[in-house]
Amino acid sequence: MIGVGSDHGGFQLKEAVREHLEAQGIEVKDYGVYEEKAADYPDIAAAAAKGVTSGEVERALLFCGTGIGICMAANKVKGIRAAVCSDCFSAKLTREHNDANILCMGGRVVGAGLACMITDAYLNAEFQGGRHAQRVAKVMALEER
Ligand code: RB5
Repeated sequence: MIGVGSDHGGFQLKEAVREHLEAQGIEVKDYGVYEEKAADYPDIAAAAAKGVTSGEVERALLFCGTGIGICMAANKVKGIRAAVCSDCFSAKLTREHNDANILCMGGRVVGAGLACMITDAYLNAEFQGGRHAQRVAKVMALEER
């Protein structure tokens, strides 16, 4: 199960990516918003991030106008490694090297076609472990400081 969520600035892109996932038979949990009405991105980030850390969803895709605010908010939740990406290379590598469990995109930055390709690059990648595991462990240790 993959989580999705957005504020108003990312709503249209969230809908496009949700439909893209569902067309591939991927189960999606939608943390809102459910209409293009002004919303605070930290509220959606918190709900989706909790969904990831509780195991309700395996990973999540979050959207706001730039992808930045919702990413910053998600990263405040313990256990979250969220990354903003606007290209396929970064999306693949943030999974392989950073073990990102949330990917964020900007509805005012990328178009729907590119966002779907970025989504596929991220979801089809796997964490490579090895030397990256100790670095990710050091990142997570910073949560305790
Ligand atoms: C909302 O206007 C906008 O600030 C938000 O979607 C996002 O881009 C924040 O980072």
